[in-house]
Amino acid sequence: MSVGIDRLAAYVPAYVLPMDALAAARNVPLEKLTHGLGVREMAIPPPCEDVVTLAANAGARLLRAAEVDPGEIGLLLVATETAVDHAKPVGIFVHDLLGIGVHCRVFELKHACYAGTAALMTAVDWVRAGRGGRRRALVIAADVARYELGSPGEPTQGAGAVAMLVQHDPRALQVSEESGVWASNVYDFWRPLGRREALVDGKYSIECYLDALAGAFGAYRSRERPALEPDEALVDRLAYCLYHVPFPKMAAKAHRRLVELDWRAAGVRWREVEPRLDEAAAASYDAQVAPTIEAVARVGNTYTASLWLCLASLLERTGRPLGGRRLGLFSYGSGSCAEYFTGVVPGSVGAVADGGLARLLAARTTIDIDEYERCIGAADAGGEPPASFAGDFVFRGVRNDRREYGRVAAEAAA
Ligand code: COA
Repeated sequence: MSVGIDRLAAYVPAYVLPMDALAAARNVPLEKLTHGLGVREMAIPPPCEDVVTLAANAGARLLRAAEVDPGEIGLLLVATETAVDHAKPVGIFVHDLLGIGVHCRVFELKHACYAGTAALMTAVDWVRAGRGGRRRALVIAADVARYELGSPGEPTQGAGAVAMLVQHDPRALQVSEESGVWASNVYDFWRPLGRREALVDGKYSIECYLDALAGAFGAYRSRERPALEPDEALVDRLAYCLYHVPFPKMAAKAHRRLVELDWRAAGVRWREVEPRLDEAAAASYDAQVAPTIEAVARVGNTYTASLWLCLASLLERTGRPLGGRRLGLFSYGSGSCAEYFTGVVPGSVGAVADGGLARLLAARTTIDIDEYERCIGAADAGGEPPASFAGDFVFRGVRNDRREYGRVAAEAAA
């Protein structure tokens, strides 16, 4: 039975801060950010946007593009580590804003950057359990990545959301029935209750990511069907390899680790590539990974939405020729849990590939460092949308401990 993602829609905030502005303000060489980390721009929410509006705006774009009646959605999952309340889930605000019906299971999932994948797998299982009934789920991964101003993590901030329609006979990605998972209790990245900025042991978090990649990929590799021949590499069966990308250089580190593990396990292949390992890994990265991370370099870290932003961007960039090709996907959430799985892009992808991401990125307003710091300070203030606003919903602020949201006048929404 073929189940997976029928269509994706991304949403990014209205403001963007170029890395040269941040590098100059923090007295850091620009090349460290653009080459050392691979970041070009950072998406910044204006005060009228928060995680709820990011998620709802992605969801609204998806339902509109897919021409789906909100009443058909029987499961709404919002994955985030940017919760706005300890009890009330982001998803129930989104449920209301999108006009989804009362006969819908709604909850929020958290496991750092892994939760989006946990939500997708939960939705896929729910659709499969419907035994051929036409179940439809809406999964939204949304986050605002925040570190202390001036800290090493600051250039890796970002914000955004990706919504996915999960159903039978999907047109964007058929999700594999097998996956490899890996969980381990580590303190690499966390956000104690009451703190808005994450705490992170940066270098250690990279090690934890790579260890989890080895664990999850190894578990998947042994479950691959049809089974790999003794000299066969899994990456040779894949057109593209997608990763959780907290900053673009992480995808290069991850792919280098993955191909080495894969090639070592494939005897003949390893003997062939070992003498020129760096060169072979770099060529594989250019062909199989670089085309997937263009949007991340312009948005920054979207935590649990990051892997899905890579998929939305790849679909939009490549379109119809992706039909029939197979993808490898790796999800990592600090703390930690990781999952490796694969998916086949159906031949009908051409009809759903354009998620409007390029248009959204082009329409953003470039801000300077003063405006960026003002936005950080006013993150819970709410407000009026700026002229470039492309969303349907805005955050109006908090009154009597209750968050208030509104719909932008129809003619103002793009
Ligand atoms: N020109 C080009 N590259 C430069 C440079 C320069 N002038 N100066 C430094 N670099 C390179 C470094 O060599 C390094 O590259 P490498 O990792 O390939 O060796 C890279 O820039 C980062 O610099 P470094 O000094 O090692 O680290 P940092 O203190 O800037 O911190 C992170 C980097 C990723 C640890 C930090 O941004 C962070 O904590 N991010 C949040 C956590 C995170 O995203 N973790 C990922 C796993 S979930």
